[in-house]
Amino acid sequence: MAPARGRVLLADPRGYCAGVDRAVIAVEKALEIHGAPVYVRKQIVHNKHVVATLERRGAVFVEETDEVPEGAVVVFSAHGVSPAVHEQAAARQLRTIDATCPLVTKVHKEAQRFAKDDFDILLIGHRGHEEVEGTMGEAPERTQLVDGADDIANVQVRDPEKVVWLSQTTLSVDETLETVDRLKDRFPGLQAPPSDDICYATQNRQQAVKQMAGECDLVLVVGSTNSSNSVRLVEVALEAGARASYLVDYASEVDEAWLEGVSTVGVTSGASVPEVLVGELLDWLGERGYPDVETVKAAEERLVFALPHELKQRRQALA
Ligand code: F3S
Repeated sequence: MAPARGRVLLADPRGYCAGVDRAVIAVEKALEIHGAPVYVRKQIVHNKHVVATLERRGAVFVEETDEVPEGAVVVFSAHGVSPAVHEQAAARQLRTIDATCPLVTKVHKEAQRFAKDDFDILLIGHRGHEEVEGTMGEAPERTQLVDGADDIANVQVRDPEKVVWLSQTTLSVDETLETVDRLKDRFPGLQAPPSDDICYATQNRQQAVKQMAGECDLVLVVGSTNSSNSVRLVEVALEAGARASYLVDYASEVDEAWLEGVSTVGVTSGASVPEVLVGELLDWLGERGYPDVETVKAAEERLVFALPHELKQRRQALA
């Protein structure tokens, strides 16, 4: 064991949210009920380890439904899909299991409702992210993406009194509020979503990082580079005062040089990260002189979502 060099602050909550848990279990149950292969459109959740583990059990990840053999079982990922994807799957007689997070579905419903009421929708989010593509697909003719300053300047609406903003669920809370303020400068009549679109899990993980970052020389975030909420945690850590912050998929990716002169290491993980990976990082830090772990608690989370209804129906049909 290396001589003690400092301590670890461990964010709570961290890791799996209710939507990720449900999506991963949905693929596992689909494999149990139908046997391999079970196709999954896009990464079920944005985490390398989770995807590799499910692949070993017989899940086959594809980019689009036209790669799935006709009549096969396909799971839609937690990030949601547009109505057009549902139509394509139906046209190929695919047996779909929709693992879209209910909190993403909530944003889809808001988009449908505001489009029906003839609003222009300004969707704050990241261009190319699957969730954004799915939500925009609900009302493509009414929705404009706002991803950065250029988009704020270029947005055009038909009636400035009938415009609403919605957002991706995994954004930085503070950055989104800044974007909303700038949109309001252009459109004072801008309406807000009926309830927070940035989900509880994103908000709580950011809050925990904010609480500890000022005391940290280094914050390590376990998560994959395509995970929006994980990337945001690195940004939030830096904005909240951490001297340095890095995103790693595995403990083995931590560069020992990052620990030079570090007495407090913050550790957290994105909403798609299984706890085993955090455990491995804590072991790795313990072996290098950071054996003491203090938890920094920002919120209690008890939310659990019911499994997709298609799984329950098929299980009953097979019983
Ligand atoms: Fe859902 Fe938020 Fe997780 S939208 S998948 S609860 S990060």
